[in-house]
Amino acid sequence: MPEVKEITAGSMNTEEFIHNKVAEIRQIVGSGVVINALSGGVDSSAVTMLGHKALEDRLKTYFIDNGIMRQGEPQQIVSVFEKLGVKVEIIDARAEFLNALKGITDPEEKREAITQAFYKKVFGNLVKKSGAKYLLQGTILTDIDETVAGIKRQHNVFEQLGIDPQEAFGYKIIEPLVQLRKDGVRKVALALGLPSSIYNRMPFPGPALAARIIGEATQERISLVRKATFILEQELESVKAFQYMAILHNDRVTGMRDNKREFGQQIEIRCWDSIDARKAHPTQISFGALEKLANRLVREVPGVVSVTYNIASKPPSTMEAV
Ligand code: XMP
Repeated sequence: MPEVKEITAGSMNTEEFIHNKVAEIRQIVGSGVVINALSGGVDSSAVTMLGHKALEDRLKTYFIDNGIMRQGEPQQIVSVFEKLGVKVEIIDARAEFLNALKGITDPEEKREAITQAFYKKVFGNLVKKSGAKYLLQGTILTDIDETVAGIKRQHNVFEQLGIDPQEAFGYKIIEPLVQLRKDGVRKVALALGLPSSIYNRMPFPGPALAARIIGEATQERISLVRKATFILEQELESVKAFQYMAILHNDRVTGMRDNKREFGQQIEIRCWDSIDARKAHPTQISFGALEKLANRLVREVPGVVSVTYNIASKPPSTMEAV
């Protein structure tokens, strides 16, 4: 297992880092074609810009619409990159992912199903279509740490688990950000000319909204958590936090609406203060702001009768629920 040497945000010479990584990508790829999947998160955005700096048109960038992204996300991200001169093709993979998630309730099985849908099915087809031998991706050190420690199988970690992507999927993976943590990636993203909406963007996990659904991620439940996420992100926009999220619980509870019993849904709000996602504490949001958010969630998301705020820290909690 190759040892990854950390570069801390404080010690990094950002210009030198970018220069070296561009040279490294060119050297690995030679004259070939490479693909990458852009989700709009800071990691995949930084890697997209690095790749384009190194390879220009020889990097084919795709946005995988897996049906578990947030409201309007595919179009928003494509338009940000269009302004930067980077062409992004949207791939409609909604049916593949929904199918892969069918009947799965166990968290690690859910993560594995998403990994397989991305790497075997969707990227496998894109590699065939484009003739690429490499996938460029924005794995960071925290992804590896948690996977190796057996805490969560991050959707994008292979080699450290003894999986050879070439053997398993038929292509090699290049990971230029693997020595960095989130704060370091933000510095690189800023230096690469990405707008603040991207380099300051809140992290969003690879398994997307499925990481925020306890139990089966059906079309209906995905749509419920998507609505809750939209409202939560609007309401908490001014809160300075590392990350905030809405989680859909599996258990229902008795509520009442219009004087009738409603055996309804529970949404858990999480909002985290953190520097690099290794440790996190709940943000001290004002009770008024929480109440306003809860009122909107029960009014605007059909079926929701209970809203809670998680006040446990990581560890022993983790940031996502799945
Ligand atoms: P946890 O839930 O492990 O989250 O405390 C720590 C940070 O990592 C993000 N996260 C992921 N990111 N692939 C990713 O790219 C994943 O599978 C994944 N799981 C969690 C999470 O949103 C948080 O910022």
